Formats: sequence, structure tokens, C-alpha cells
Amino acid sequence: MKILKKIENNLIEQCVMNKKIAVIPGDGIGPEVTAQSIKVLNAIGQRFGHVFSYEYALMGADAIDKTGSPLPDETVTTCLASDAVLFGAIGHPKYDNDPSAKVRPEQGLLKLRKDLQLFANIRPIDTYKALSHMSPLKAKQLEGIDFVIFRELTGGIYFGKKELAKDGQSASDLCTYSVTEIERIAHLAFKYAQNRRKKLTLVDKANVLETSRLWRKVVQGMSATYPDVTVDYMFVDNAAMQIILYPAQFDVILTENLFGDIISDEASVLSGSLGLLPSASVGNQVALFEPIHGSYPQAAGKDIANPLGSILSAAMLLDHLQMHEEAVVVRKAVDWTLTNGFVSKDIDPINNYATTAIGEIISDFIEKKRDTEKNNNDGDNKSTII
Ligand code: IPM
Ligand code: MN
Repeated sequence: MKILKKIENNLIEQCVMNKKIAVIPGDGIGPEVTAQSIKVLNAIGQRFGHVFSYEYALMGADAIDKTGSPLPDETVTTCLASDAVLFGAIGHPKYDNDPSAKVRPEQGLLKLRKDLQLFANIRPIDTYKALSHMSPLKAKQLEGIDFVIFRELTGGIYFGKKELAKDGQSASDLCTYSVTEIERIAHLAFKYAQNRRKKLTLVDKANVLETSRLWRKVVQGMSATYPDVTVDYMFVDNAAMQIILYPAQFDVILTENLFGDIISDEASVLSGSLGLLPSASVGNQVALFEPIHGSYPQAAGKDIANPLGSILSAAMLLDHLQMHEEAVVVRKAVDWTLTNGFVSKDIDPINNYATTAIGEIISDFIEKKRDTEKNNNDGDNKSTII
């Protein structure tokens, strides 16, 4: 008996982890939603005996206000010294309508992606039964939607040479890709497809763009190394249409930076709310996790933002740290809140819960402080208009 107990204790000790998380709350609703993810990670720590420690760092408009730079060097150092980065959102309206602003919040995120070499952005597109009424698609088209977008994140037109002619009459943005840049993300996407339904769709504009033809050539060449994966090729204009028309056809979509930015926002509405979608940005060093949504300045400070995109990003962070059981628990908790109507204003404008309340409900569920058998809908900081 004693020996068994000892083995059991050893096993428990082996699984207990100490992880350093760099937290970049960022702008707008970023700090509010990120705070809920921290609650959730702490609840996971409580339940599984892990210790998460957090180091806060500045980026975006917040960083410009405080330091003059959208990405202070210290932020990069903090991220590189961490096991993972949790990021909120970026952007402020005072820069959006000023095309001549020399310093912009978004420059911070772009530079961080480059500095941490986060070359692959992974955006899973899931749907939730409880939210099907919110989707712009008909119920029939929603059946079987389960795909992942692999968006290249550190190359292409985002990072090519940018020029504005002296006379202000013309401008250009260069789009460049190297074989190495294409191969490294394509390997990740192929491997991901191997563990799923084994289908990879390369989205490009190879009928017009030289860079797209290079993507096609490289991916075609690599496909022999992954014979179990079926590869197909789709022009981006057609893909934009197919995502709405017949989204269940997709398994893993691989695409370049700008196309990935556009089609992932498009795909995000399939689930019914942009506020729900998480993402992971990975490279060879530390990985970063952030919701897909932006800084939503109109909602900042009002405790109405949907924290699920951030909380599901924290679940991806747990998966990345090999805490798979923990990630499953977080996703289960999220499912449970959606099914039981503990939802934010974007999902139900009449009967809804505050951002902070949803964070607490999910944390309680994780720590098993909540009776999950019945729907205890009362007294949870619910705002009801009726
Ligand atoms: C995203 C965002 C960013 C991008 C902006 C904020 C620079 O839209 O992460 O998708 O375009 O990559
Ligand atoms: Mn985007």
C-alpha cells in the first residue's frame, strides 16, 4: 500500500509544472479579456497543481503612450525568457483615421512577430451547436465545419519594402517569399493535416502572382513526402466564396500572410461570433496566443467583451505546453457556459453576463466549485433588460 502511495505521489510530482507566461494585455478590451484567461489558468493551476507565474509587458497604443514605442525592447526580452506569451489585442481609433501617423500600435505586433520569428499563425474554425442561430449561414451549411487555417505570418506583402513617392502620387508594397519561408510553414501544415482528415488546401492567386506560383511549386514538391495527405489548390477569390458556400469541405488551409488575414476573419463569423475564436502563433522559439478579434475600443472598460476568444487561446497555450488534459477541461468549461446561457452581450443582447462574471464561472467550473448538473442561472452578475 505504502509503495503504491509513493509511486502515486511521484507520478503527481512529475506532472506538476512551473511555467512562466509573458502577458501582453495591449489595447482596448485586451486587458479585460486577458484578465479572464489569467483567472482560468490559475484555476487550472489549482486543479492540477501547476504554478503559472506571469510577467506583464507593454505593446501597442498602450506602449506608445507610456514609452513612445509600440514595442519596447524589454517586451521582447520578457517574451523570450518565457514559456509562452498571452496577448490581448492591439489598435486604437486615434491612429486608424490618421494615415500619416509615423508610429502606429500595429507596428508593435508586426515587429514582435518578426523578432520572435512567429512564422505560422494557426486559427482553428469550430462551430458550437448552442450558437448556430447566430451564424449567418443556414443550419445545413454549418454541419461538419471543422477546419484550421495556417497563415504565414512573417513574410509577404506585410514585410516587403514599402514606398511612398516623394510627390505623394504613387505608393508600393513589395510581396516577396523565399522557398525556405514557404517550406517551414508548409511542413507544419502537412503534419497537422496528417493528424486530422488528411486534406490540405493551398489558397493562392497562382493565376496572377509570381509568389503564388512559387508557393504552388514548393507545396507540390513537398507533397511526395506526405503521401497520405491529399493536396488541392484553390484561388483565393474562389476560396472566399467556398468558405461561405461549403465550409465543411476544408480540413487544413495553408496560405500566405495577407490572404490568411482576410479569409480567417471571413471564416471566423461561421461560428456565430468573432469574439470566440482563438489563435496560436508559433515559430522556433516561444509561441504566442491571442484571440482573433481586435481591440473593440467601443467596449473597452465596460465589462461587456466576450472573453472566450482569449480563454480558448489559453487552452491552445496549454496544449502547446503539453498540458492536453488541462486544455480539454478549459474547452469543456467553455462549452458548458455556452450551452447553459452564460454568455456575453455579443451573443445575447438581452440576457447576458459580464466579462468578469464569465471568467469566474469558467474558473469555478474548472475548480469544480460549481454544480454543473443543474443550470444555476441566478445571482451571477447577470444583466437582464427584461
Ligand atoms: C491580425 C490583425 C493584424 C494583422 C493587425 C492588427 C496588424 O488583423 O492578427 O489578424 O493584420 O495581422
Ligand atoms: Mn486580421
